[in-house]
Amino acid sequence: MTSERQMRQEPAYRCLQKLRGLVEKENVSAGIIAEVDKAMDLLKARNDFCEQQTTRPSQDLQQLMKSTLQHDWQKAHDQGQLDHIPNTLMMSGNLEVQFFRTLASLGNVKRVLELGLFTGVSALALAESLPEDGKVISCEIDPYIANLARSFLDKATSGKKVEILNAPAQESMERLAQKKQQFDLIFLDADKPSYVQYYKMIFELGLLAPKGTILVDNALFFGDPYTKERFMGEIGDGVTQFNEVVKDDNTVHKVMLPIRDGIMMIRRKEDVD
Ligand SMILES: C[S@@+](CC[C@H](N)C(=O)[O-])C[C@H]1O[C@@H](n2cnc3c(N)ncnc32)[C@H](O)[C@@H]1O
Repeated sequence: MTSERQMRQEPAYRCLQKLRGLVEKENVSAGIIAEVDKAMDLLKARNDFCEQQTTRPSQDLQQLMKSTLQHDWQKAHDQGQLDHIPNTLMMSGNLEVQFFRTLASLGNVKRVLELGLFTGVSALALAESLPEDGKVISCEIDPYIANLARSFLDKATSGKKVEILNAPAQESMERLAQKKQQFDLIFLDADKPSYVQYYKMIFELGLLAPKGTILVDNALFFGDPYTKERFMGEIGDGVTQFNEVVKDDNTVHKVMLPIRDGIMMIRRKEDVD
């Protein structure tokens, strides 16, 4: 079942929640309250239906998702190993990762660059659809999270295809470019305020292989790019600016997919036209 926390990424749902509170206070008929409840249930049901229609995660992926949810983040924080308690909602959901797996399996995808690893869910999902000699290089800034992800990935069959670079993504991107590395798929999912910078660096450093694809997570970030409500404040502004930069970039073909919190898919124009 889609969680309440996840539904709050959807502005229409938040609006209905507010309306639900208002109609309860006012003297409105039970029929009106029931219709508001129905609208909220329908939004959830749509998400649930998409999940149910989608291939289940592998045992390894299920275990990784479970380990992420069960991990004692509070303890790590209290012991000073983490400077904040991560929101486990950052981990990609199954609908999203099965979509990534479909893309990675379409052919010619062997090398993936991920900016923003967290516990390794999306990295492992992508690795599972790569050929034996395929590789996911994933950038993670936090040493505690990078080590934890490594320990989770080492328990998964395809985890060996994931290499972790524990450094700020910008630094890792520079180093990869110096080694003339290129990637068929680049998944942008690190800190949102740096999205524009990452996007520019990908092209300036030549990290995207010919016919490569960029995937961008949280492209609809809580609705901020289209509601302009700034529900997520400055972090949301980063995604809003990113969307504007991509929209104005005539060299690329782009498609905004309303999957979960939004996925933007970007390819060079000449590869699509
Ligand atoms: C949204 S999570 C990634 C989720 C993961 N891709 C998944 O789908 O399961 C973002 C991660 O990026 C990391 N991060 C934030 N800023 C970063 C930076 N400048 N360089 C590298 N990693 C960064 C965070 O520590 C966090 O673990």
